[in-house]
Amino acid sequence: MTTPDAAPPLPGFSLGAQGAEGRIWYGEYLGRPAVAKERFSKAYRHRKLDEMLTKQRTVAEARAFHRMGDIGVRAPKVYLTDVASGLVVMERLPGVTARQAIIEAHAAGDATRVEAVARAIGDMVARVHAAGFVHGDLTTSNMIVLAPEGGGEAAGGGSGAAAAAAGEAAAAAEAPPGGSASGAPRLALIDFGLSQRAKASQLLEERGVDLYVMERAFTSTHATCPEAFDATMEAYAGSGAWSAAKGPASAQSRDGTLSHLQRVRARGRKRMAFG
Ligand SMILES: Nc1ncnc2c1ncn2[C@@H]1O[C@H](COP(=O)(O)OP(=O)(O)OP(=O)(O)O)[C@@H](O)[C@H]1O
Ligand SMILES: [Mg+2]
Repeated sequence: MTTPDAAPPLPGFSLGAQGAEGRIWYGEYLGRPAVAKERFSKAYRHRKLDEMLTKQRTVAEARAFHRMGDIGVRAPKVYLTDVASGLVVMERLPGVTARQAIIEAHAAGDATRVEAVARAIGDMVARVHAAGFVHGDLTTSNMIVLAPEGGGEAAGGGSGAAAAAAGEAAAAAEAPPGGSASGAPRLALIDFGLSQRAKASQLLEERGVDLYVMERAFTSTHATCPEAFDATMEAYAGSGAWSAAKGPASAQSRDGTLSHLQRVRARGRKRMAFG
């Protein structure tokens, strides 16, 4: 399924991870820490369909930085996109995945930290949803708990960038400047290949499915601390993003989304029961 000759897409990049659908490379782009994400063909998929999916996902990923920036959600700045070869070179966000942060805090018996990270996840996802977007793959591996600023210049990423400014403004409201690791965690979202603007007529359904995917990810990855997902959902429901939103993204549609999640859950259970 994977090709053995994994040559770096850019000189000096080294292989970070090889997944089912692509590779992650780490290196530097114009002197900045960068991640190169390469999507490749799957032998068992029809070639034309495969090319279309790869292209779609690469474009979705590249678009996300600006879209998220507009709504104050931190996402990697995109440095380079080559749709034809399924390559996106982006800013490497300093920090650890939310998966790692939750697992480590839980192992250390730090329930406060688990809750803080989980709540930050809920608020971030609410901001994405309230703005009419769905992520499509809300796992805790697709969220980065940013390293506290002041611990090196890497944390800034791109000074002057709209997203950085928006992200910083949002962070400033929650955490003291240069907040320590024990302060309010600042989160970023990555892996936007399956993200999309939700269709107005399908808004509740698409958000409900997005939340259901997240719930399944939490229950499989963080089975030993179910309180994490509870805290995430509590923060999601209580997020200021809903009251700031207008029209179809209002608090009313939040309630609709939450009851839709119940329906998606019931469907999921049925599917499991009947194959
Ligand atoms: N911009 C980034 N900054 C920091 N770390 C990143 C970045 N992009 C990816 N990573 C790291 O690489 C991992 C995989 O990246 P990503 O989720 O984008 O790809 P993926 O196709 O989902 O890979 P996988 O199959 O491993 O889930 C992330 O979980 C994260 O640890
Ligand atoms: Mg991922």
